[in-house]
Amino acid sequence: DIGAALASAADPGVERAALDDLDERVADAHERIERGRAEGEFGYAALNLPETTDADEIRDAVAPVTDAESVVTVGIGGSALGARTVTEALADDPGRHVVLDNVDPEHVERTLAGLSLADTAINVVSRSGTTAETLANFLVVRAAYEDAGVDWTERIVVTTGESGPLRALADEHGLPTLPVPEGVPGRFSALSAVGLVPPAILGLDIEGLLAGGRAAADDLAPSLYDSPAYAYGAMCYALEEEGASVNAFMPYAERLESFGEWFAQLWAESLGKDGRGQTPARALGATDQHSQLQLYRAGPRDKVVTFVRPRERADVAIPDPDHDDLSYLSGTDLGDLIDAEYEATVASLPAADRPALEVEIDRLDARSVGELLYAMEAACVLVGELAGVETFTQPAVEWGKNATRALVRGEETEETAVVDDRERLR
Ligand code: PA5
Repeated sequence: DIGAALASAADPGVERAALDDLDERVADAHERIERGRAEGEFGYAALNLPETTDADEIRDAVAPVTDAESVVTVGIGGSALGARTVTEALADDPGRHVVLDNVDPEHVERTLAGLSLADTAINVVSRSGTTAETLANFLVVRAAYEDAGVDWTERIVVTTGESGPLRALADEHGLPTLPVPEGVPGRFSALSAVGLVPPAILGLDIEGLLAGGRAAADDLAPSLYDSPAYAYGAMCYALEEEGASVNAFMPYAERLESFGEWFAQLWAESLGKDGRGQTPARALGATDQHSQLQLYRAGPRDKVVTFVRPRERADVAIPDPDHDDLSYLSGTDLGDLIDAEYEATVASLPAADRPALEVEIDRLDARSVGELLYAMEAACVLVGELAGVETFTQPAVEWGKNATRALVRGEETEETAVVDDRERLR
């Protein structure tokens, strides 16, 4: 499991007495979260996904395309990051999953040119079915398949809500379609069809991911001392109150680099409200010990670093050096080296009067990744409850979507008026 000592902060941390006080609020928040889950309320329903997601339904929908060598996901934000996170963590060749989220024309062109379309499945995902980037990229992808003489209708799986243009298009062409679960915002949907179609196409263990999610759900309890997810969330909240307005997510595993991007969306879009919310930063251990760590250890005292590592991993022996100056590497593995770097860096922050949080998973397998995804979602919901913000809305994101559509259509709206004002200021 994620481990009872999921969150730890040495000096400067949070006083035990302050945590004891906070724990009463954690108990209230837990009660609220459990009520929301029981009633399937918007947002809280996401914490039921490990129970409600039907892995067999996903396996059936992707069956016609499991012969594909690769899969291209067309989606953005919460409709893309979960799937990328999971495939990067679990696939032996993560390059088999390509994500077209951005509408940078050069990137789209280069990506499509690098794919053998006949051997590539298409995974189109949009909860609303109206997101401009996703629909535009889908039309480009579809045209590329037609130009290559490949029947795209035979290579596609669509995941979308009950209505909207994407749903209409899927119905019109009789495409295999999976539902986006009710009451689940995009960034909380990794453990549904939204995040699980690409790993299912690639033959990864989606059942294990869901089992990990269920294990983390079982670990939720009315005290931060009994629940690893709440321990992490409560520490983040308490440290933010003490001025840690930046949360740098620093996994010591390349396979978790995209996890940092997923975490950044979860934290920023859920908690960035009412003038508060920690700004997520993305780092990678040990690589960023050689860059960002300088700022984390000696820059402004406005950060907490979240360190993440697997307790076990496959290892590579470092060949015997034939040089005296390198003899310290003799008989060691790369795993010993990265663990030493982790230990030293975690210790270096409290030594410089900066807080550090540690998150450990057993190993990088489906169960642990499912557990970590769920635990971070639960931690985020807890922080939202403690901070009193609307965790499950994203008005600023919706503003941008509306503005984009109106600008492209040439309409005059509240949003385009703001853009016009900006033009006048230039
Ligand atoms: O978390 C969210 O709500 C957003 O990031 C959405 O997932 C993103 O904007 C894509 O929306 P949709 O799935 O409707 O295309």
